[in-house]
Amino acid sequence: KLTAEDKHNVKAIWDHVKGHEEAIGAEALYRMFCCMPTTRIYFPAKDLSERSSYLHSHGKKVVGALTNAVAHIDDIDTAFSKLSDKHAEELMVDPANFPKLAHNILVVLGIHLKPHFTYSVHRSVDKFLSTVAYVLASKYR
Ligand code: HEM
Repeated sequence: KLTAEDKHNVKAIWDHVKGHEEAIGAEALYRMFCCMPTTRIYFPAKDLSERSSYLHSHGKKVVGALTNAVAHIDDIDTAFSKLSDKHAEELMVDPANFPKLAHNILVVLGIHLKPHFTYSVHRSVDKFLSTVAYVLASKYR
Protein backbone atom coordinates (compact mmCIF):
# COMPACT_ATOMS: atom_id res chain seq x y z
CA LYS A 1 0.00 0.00 0.00
CA LEU A 2 1.30 3.40 -0.94
CA THR A 3 1.85 5.55 2.14
CA ALA A 4 1.62 9.33 2.20
CA GLU A 5 5.43 9.38 2.07
CA ASP A 6 5.45 7.11 -1.00
CA LYS A 7 2.97 9.37 -2.79
CA HIS A 8 5.04 12.41 -1.89
CA ASN A 9 8.25 10.76 -3.15
CA VAL A 10 6.68 9.60 -6.42
CA LYS A 11 5.17 13.03 -7.13
CA ALA A 12 8.49 14.70 -6.36
CA ILE A 13 10.55 12.55 -8.74
CA TRP A 14 7.83 12.72 -11.38
CA ASP A 15 8.35 16.48 -11.57
CA HIS A 16 11.65 15.55 -13.22
CA VAL A 17 10.03 12.94 -15.49
CA LYS A 18 7.38 15.27 -16.90
CA GLY A 19 8.32 16.52 -20.34
CA HIS A 20 10.78 13.62 -20.80
CA GLU A 21 8.24 10.81 -21.16
CA GLU A 22 9.37 9.95 -24.67
CA ALA A 23 13.11 9.68 -23.92
CA ILE A 24 12.56 7.78 -20.66
CA GLY A 25 9.97 5.46 -22.19
CA ALA A 26 12.05 4.70 -25.28
CA GLU A 27 15.12 3.88 -23.20
CA ALA A 28 13.15 1.70 -20.77
CA LEU A 29 11.54 -0.21 -23.64
CA TYR A 30 14.86 -0.58 -25.44
CA ARG A 31 16.49 -1.96 -22.29
CA MET A 32 13.57 -4.34 -21.71
CA PHE A 33 13.62 -5.67 -25.29
CA CYS A 34 17.39 -6.05 -25.06
CA CYS A 35 17.71 -7.68 -21.59
CA MET A 36 14.42 -9.58 -21.57
CA PRO A 37 14.01 -10.53 -25.22
CA THR A 38 10.91 -12.70 -24.75
CA THR A 39 8.99 -9.41 -24.30
CA ARG A 40 9.52 -8.79 -28.02
CA ILE A 41 6.90 -11.37 -29.00
CA TYR A 42 4.13 -8.83 -28.43
CA PHE A 43 5.64 -6.47 -30.99
CA PRO A 44 6.00 -8.53 -34.16
CA ALA A 45 7.09 -6.62 -37.24
CA LYS A 46 7.77 -3.48 -35.20
CA ASP A 47 11.10 -1.70 -35.49
CA LEU A 48 12.49 -2.01 -31.95
CA SER A 49 15.92 -0.55 -32.70
CA GLU A 50 17.26 2.15 -30.41
CA ARG A 51 16.29 5.19 -32.44
CA SER A 52 13.17 3.89 -34.15
CA SER A 53 10.21 6.24 -34.31
CA TYR A 54 7.94 3.41 -33.14
CA LEU A 55 9.97 2.87 -29.98
CA HIS A 56 9.87 6.58 -29.23
CA SER A 57 6.15 7.02 -29.85
CA HIS A 58 5.31 3.89 -27.85
CA GLY A 59 7.64 4.95 -25.03
CA LYS A 60 5.89 8.30 -24.86
CA LYS A 61 2.49 6.57 -24.55
CA VAL A 62 3.66 4.20 -21.82
CA VAL A 63 5.39 6.78 -19.60
CA GLY A 64 2.62 9.28 -20.42
CA ALA A 65 0.19 6.74 -18.91
CA LEU A 66 2.39 6.64 -15.80
CA THR A 67 2.31 10.44 -15.57
CA ASN A 68 -1.47 10.11 -15.62
CA ALA A 69 -1.30 7.45 -12.88
CA VAL A 70 0.79 9.85 -10.75
CA ALA A 71 -1.84 12.55 -11.29
CA HIS A 72 -4.46 10.06 -10.03
CA ILE A 73 -2.29 8.34 -7.46
CA ASP A 74 -5.20 7.93 -5.01
CA ASP A 75 -7.27 6.10 -7.62
CA ILE A 76 -4.98 4.27 -10.03
CA ASP A 77 -7.66 1.57 -10.44
CA THR A 78 -10.02 3.97 -12.19
CA ALA A 79 -7.28 5.78 -14.10
CA PHE A 80 -5.99 2.48 -15.52
CA SER A 81 -9.27 0.65 -15.98
CA LYS A 82 -9.34 0.94 -19.80
CA LEU A 83 -5.62 0.21 -20.13
CA SER A 84 -6.04 -2.88 -18.00
CA ASP A 85 -8.92 -4.10 -20.20
CA LYS A 86 -6.84 -3.49 -23.28
CA HIS A 87 -3.77 -5.41 -22.07
CA ALA A 88 -5.92 -8.31 -20.85
CA GLU A 89 -8.53 -8.72 -23.57
CA GLU A 90 -7.09 -7.21 -26.71
CA LEU A 91 -3.30 -7.41 -26.39
CA MET A 92 -3.27 -10.54 -24.19
CA VAL A 93 0.04 -9.64 -22.61
CA ASP A 94 1.10 -12.19 -20.00
CA PRO A 95 0.99 -10.18 -16.74
CA ALA A 96 4.36 -11.67 -15.76
CA ASN A 97 5.78 -9.07 -18.16
CA PHE A 98 4.60 -6.01 -16.25
CA PRO A 99 7.28 -6.23 -13.54
CA LYS A 100 9.88 -6.51 -16.33
CA LEU A 101 8.98 -3.13 -17.78
CA ALA A 102 8.66 -1.72 -14.25
CA HIS A 103 12.22 -2.86 -13.51
CA ASN A 104 13.62 -1.19 -16.62
CA ILE A 105 11.79 2.06 -15.86
CA LEU A 106 13.36 2.00 -12.41
CA VAL A 107 16.80 1.48 -13.96
CA VAL A 108 16.35 4.45 -16.33
CA LEU A 109 15.17 6.74 -13.52
CA GLY A 110 18.09 5.61 -11.36
CA ILE A 111 20.60 6.41 -14.08
CA HIS A 112 19.22 9.74 -15.25
CA LEU A 113 17.85 11.16 -12.00
CA LYS A 114 20.61 9.89 -9.77
CA PRO A 115 20.78 12.87 -7.35
CA HIS A 116 17.03 12.61 -6.73
CA PHE A 117 17.01 8.83 -6.58
CA THR A 118 17.56 8.34 -2.87
CA TYR A 119 16.95 4.95 -1.21
CA SER A 120 13.55 6.08 -0.02
CA VAL A 121 12.55 7.41 -3.47
CA HIS A 122 13.76 4.13 -4.99
CA ARG A 123 11.52 2.18 -2.63
CA SER A 124 8.51 4.43 -3.23
CA VAL A 125 8.83 4.32 -7.04
CA ASP A 126 9.24 0.53 -6.86
CA LYS A 127 6.02 0.32 -4.82
CA PHE A 128 4.24 2.67 -7.23
CA LEU A 129 5.26 0.61 -10.28
CA SER A 130 4.22 -2.61 -8.48
CA THR A 131 0.84 -1.04 -7.85
CA VAL A 132 0.56 -0.12 -11.54
CA ALA A 133 1.52 -3.69 -12.52
CA TYR A 134 -1.04 -5.09 -10.09
CA VAL A 135 -3.80 -2.83 -11.45
CA LEU A 136 -2.87 -3.68 -15.05
CA ALA A 137 -3.13 -7.39 -14.20
CA SER A 138 -6.41 -7.04 -12.32
CA LYS A 139 -8.70 -7.54 -15.34
CA TYR A 140 -7.34 -10.95 -16.22
CA ARG A 141 -9.93 -12.70 -14.05
C1 HEM B 1 -0.02 -0.55 -25.60
C2 HEM B 1 0.94 1.27 -21.20
C3 HEM B 1 3.30 -2.81 -20.06
C4 HEM B 1 2.53 -4.52 -24.51
C5 HEM B 1 0.06 0.29 -24.51
C6 HEM B 1 -0.44 1.65 -24.48
C7 HEM B 1 -0.16 2.17 -23.26
C8 HEM B 1 0.52 1.14 -22.51
C9 HEM B 1 -0.50 3.57 -22.74
C10 HEM B 1 -1.17 2.36 -25.62
C11 HEM B 1 -2.63 2.01 -25.49
C12 HEM B 1 -3.49 2.60 -26.59
O1 HEM B 1 -2.97 2.99 -27.63
O2 HEM B 1 -4.72 2.63 -26.39
C13 HEM B 1 1.63 0.29 -20.49
C14 HEM B 1 2.10 0.44 -19.12
C15 HEM B 1 2.76 -0.71 -18.79
C16 HEM B 1 2.71 -1.57 -19.97
C17 HEM B 1 1.86 1.67 -18.25
C18 HEM B 1 3.46 -1.11 -17.52
C19 HEM B 1 4.08 -0.29 -16.71
C20 HEM B 1 3.36 -3.58 -21.19
C21 HEM B 1 4.17 -4.78 -21.32
C22 HEM B 1 3.95 -5.26 -22.57
C23 HEM B 1 3.01 -4.37 -23.22
C24 HEM B 1 5.09 -5.33 -20.23
C25 HEM B 1 4.53 -6.47 -23.25
C26 HEM B 1 5.74 -6.96 -22.99
C27 HEM B 1 1.79 -3.60 -25.17
C28 HEM B 1 1.43 -3.71 -26.58
C29 HEM B 1 0.71 -2.56 -26.90
C30 HEM B 1 0.62 -1.77 -25.68
C31 HEM B 1 1.78 -4.87 -27.52
C32 HEM B 1 0.12 -2.19 -28.27
C33 HEM B 1 1.22 -1.48 -29.04
C34 HEM B 1 0.76 -0.88 -30.35
O3 HEM B 1 -0.44 -0.66 -30.52
O4 HEM B 1 1.63 -0.60 -31.18
N1 HEM B 1 0.64 0.01 -23.30
N2 HEM B 1 2.01 -0.94 -20.97
N3 HEM B 1 2.67 -3.37 -22.36
N4 HEM B 1 1.28 -2.42 -24.67
FE1 HEM B 1 1.54 -1.74 -22.80
